[in-house]
Amino acid sequence: MEVTEGGGQQQARRRRATATLVLLSSSLLLNAVFLAHHLLWQPSRFFPVILDDVDEGGSCGLSWSLQAAREAEAVAAVGCSGHGQVFLDGVAGEDGRPGCQCNACFAGPDCSLQKLDCTADADSGNPLFLDPYWRRHAAASAVVVSGWHRMSYTTSDATFQSVELERQIRLLHTAVGNAVVDDKHVVFAAGSVQLINALVHALSPDANDASPPARVVATAPYYPTYRTQTAMFDGREYVWGGTTARWANASRNSTATTDGYIEFVTSPNNPDAKLYGPVLGGSAAAIVDHAYYWPHFTHIPAPADEDVMMFTISKLSGHAGSRFGWALIRDENVAKRAKDYVQNSIMGASRDTQLRMLGIMKAMLANLHTEEDIFVFGHDAMRTRWLKLNAVVSRSRRISLQKIQPQYCTYFQRIREPSPAYAWVKCEREEDGNCYDALLKANIITRSGVYFEAGSRYTRVSLLKSDDDFDVLMERVTDLVNAEKYDDAPGSSSMLR
Ligand SMILES: Cc1ncc(COP(=O)(O)O)c(C=O)c1O
Repeated sequence: MEVTEGGGQQQARRRRATATLVLLSSSLLLNAVFLAHHLLWQPSRFFPVILDDVDEGGSCGLSWSLQAAREAEAVAAVGCSGHGQVFLDGVAGEDGRPGCQCNACFAGPDCSLQKLDCTADADSGNPLFLDPYWRRHAAASAVVVSGWHRMSYTTSDATFQSVELERQIRLLHTAVGNAVVDDKHVVFAAGSVQLINALVHALSPDANDASPPARVVATAPYYPTYRTQTAMFDGREYVWGGTTARWANASRNSTATTDGYIEFVTSPNNPDAKLYGPVLGGSAAAIVDHAYYWPHFTHIPAPADEDVMMFTISKLSGHAGSRFGWALIRDENVAKRAKDYVQNSIMGASRDTQLRMLGIMKAMLANLHTEEDIFVFGHDAMRTRWLKLNAVVSRSRRISLQKIQPQYCTYFQRIREPSPAYAWVKCEREEDGNCYDALLKANIITRSGVYFEAGSRYTRVSLLKSDDDFDVLMERVTDLVNAEKYDDAPGSSSMLR
């Protein structure tokens, strides 16, 4: 019994010791797990390098940018059925997260419902045809902005313009061969829309001068904002003077002079896509708007070299929402006056925008003359749209489009097919004197030729918008053209009447 009892006590002691050991080691193990967990949740403070190996989430030693990056990637990952997008600053739904913002003619929480017989909206020049390009180049074009990025009014060199961005812009023009930059000053603005008045101001006589105000003119059809903006700011320095037709005739008689005229020229033109030069000549000043002078919209015969030129990121990369444009100006004093204007009105283009534009410029430059060239992508997209539209409209006797010939392009070093930003539509029938109305009855929203001072027989159709917008436009134009054969049949009723 004793032996048996003694053996039992020994066994009990051994069991107690083993249990204590197990408890001790599991407590140590737990502590180790807790410690490791604690340290790994503050990775950048303790293990910035080790994290690369440990964290499978791909933090790569990053800390404060991670949450923002995760949020940006999370919204980008929502597909919205390919017919919409989620934006970080979108309206929050019941779950507190922004939902899908559907393209026109699509609806539903995931944009999967297509609205039948939807009206095609081909009014604005919203350059969303480039959205797929930037999705393909998401990494190269992403920008991380810290909370303390350039909080100052000025950049570090005490100006309002990023020196590095200006350098990249000059590099891009030179690489594309669409403008001579060496003898030009660069002036940034909040979109080229702001440059319209900045440049008119810069070229006008000083408000204290005895000379009469400058007359601002353009040749029809012209981009209407030259007129609306000049008329809005109309004052002592300058007035809207109407179309060049009136003044060109006047300047042909011996006494008239072109002194005191500022002529807006758009090349290629909005709305008809033709390359134009100034018509007044003589001592008139010209502001040449080259918003579309890039190889996705036009052939580039030679680098532009006018005294005052305007460009915009909106039609170059498609980032219209960033509001960024620039002028290339030969004369130092004119450039200074334009800069003064921008400084007085907005204290320089947004520093956040300039940072984003720097990334976009670099991404475009890095891909020039490769398979991922933005101009190859853009030209392909716009050329395909133009071909499709022409194929349908060529069957019509009711509407026609402007004629554009293939031309040699110095950038592509070959003859390139036309790829205009806009179709300039003419209604051919007597009874369709208001072409805008005629197309509206066919469920197509356009921009009337009246705005371009070209009369109501013409209307502009934007080809720049999203793929969805263009597909709906093609459906409605096809319906319109197909309906013509019923119009021609005796006793039929037209969809346009
Ligand atoms: C000829 C022309 N100039 C200027 C602009 C304005 O561009 P931004 O977006 O830079 O203000 C446009 C926009 O459609 C345009 O067509």
